[in-house]
Amino acid sequence: MSHIVIQGGRRLEGTLTVQGAKNSVLPILAATILHPGRTTLRGCPRLSDVEASIRILRHLGCKAEWEGEELTVDASTLDRWDVPDHLMREMRSSVIFLGAILARMGWAELSHPGGCELGPRPIDLHLAALRQLGAQLREESGCLQCSAQCMEGREIVLSMPSVGATENAMLAACGAEGETVLVNAAREPEIGDLQAFLCGMGCRVRGAGSSTICVQGRRPTHDSVHTVMPDRIAAATYLAAAAAAGGEVELRRVSHGHLSTVTAALHAAGCQISGGEGQVALRSAGHLRSIGTVRTAPYPGFPTDAQAILMAALLRARGATVFVENIFENRYRHVDELCRMGADISVADRVAVVTGVPELCGAQVRCTDLRGGAALLGAGPAPPGGTPNGGVF
Ligand code: EPU
Repeated sequence: MSHIVIQGGRRLEGTLTVQGAKNSVLPILAATILHPGRTTLRGCPRLSDVEASIRILRHLGCKAEWEGEELTVDASTLDRWDVPDHLMREMRSSVIFLGAILARMGWAELSHPGGCELGPRPIDLHLAALRQLGAQLREESGCLQCSAQCMEGREIVLSMPSVGATENAMLAACGAEGETVLVNAAREPEIGDLQAFLCGMGCRVRGAGSSTICVQGRRPTHDSVHTVMPDRIAAATYLAAAAAAGGEVELRRVSHGHLSTVTAALHAAGCQISGGEGQVALRSAGHLRSIGTVRTAPYPGFPTDAQAILMAALLRARGATVFVENIFENRYRHVDELCRMGADISVADRVAVVTGVPELCGAQVRCTDLRGGAALLGAGPAPPGGTPNGGVF
């Protein structure tokens, strides 16, 4: 097991450049297979989920080569349409390969995806969208067999703006005949990056950022180079950590607009925030105040992925802050761990009430999921004298 020991009681100071977005690059990696040629991704973060995507690409017969932070995928040699169970289980995003494989090969075989445990994470909306495009799906012993010899574009209404279902439908629609109109699509910035990537290789997609996305069925026409958008949740994590510990940080290569709900919350908590083109700076005295109620919601609402890290920032804030988690059923698994550090948090169903305490203490804590782990790291620098027993993740 890997572990991280944090020496607390220090301010966080410095400047850093934000990496490419995980939740943007993962669907883009799946989308590379639409083009039987080469695609280069700049600013590609080297994360375990990216490595898992590369394992899937290689299994499918593609070549993938790193050169620094640049990843080139050559999908001209793709010759399989199946993703084995052990690769599917590595992450949730493996399911986005379904739409991409169908669009390229007209046939796909894979099982249910894995991913962080945040409550039930069904894929019914993904499958319903593909069915509406004309894909035939059969499920046997946990294995999905999908055939789509002639998918046809049409209007697809998502019953909720699922990020993954929107991405899957966009990729499948590139391989369908005619126009697909996705209604009630997710509006997250990562959908915009996927659209930019698809258009960059010759597909015709418009509307990302709004709740209606139109895809003109058309295969990619050429090799392309795409720069992955900056990771707004990683940026939020750095800002929240500095807010909690006190200090001054400047983030570069970041979109201030994508962070507006997070920076508004940190500002309300007493941090000074300034932002310009591609840059955000935060100054915090480390003594924050509570901010009323934070409700997670689809973009442009407050991101569920930033709920845990904002909670960590407010553990010592004066007063009580209420969190309402509206996206995932079970996204408070970090709470027990934060309580080990002396936090005062009570949870009932989807509501968590955080009452500020004067001090936190060092403790051994366990990472429960990606963002929960980031929250523990964010809280770690605050206790005076650090985490004497070590933080275990
Ligand atoms: N849902 C369904 N049926 C579906 C799909 C989703 O009921 O077919 C439900 C989910 O169970 C959940 C809600 O709809 O309750 C939202 O799920 P969504 O599909 O929007 O999320 P996702 O595509 O699985 C992506 C991010 C998550 C992020 C959510 C919401 C990636 C790889 N993952 O997940 O990121 O929390 O959107 O913004 O893009 C993370 O980075 O830590 C993370 C979990």
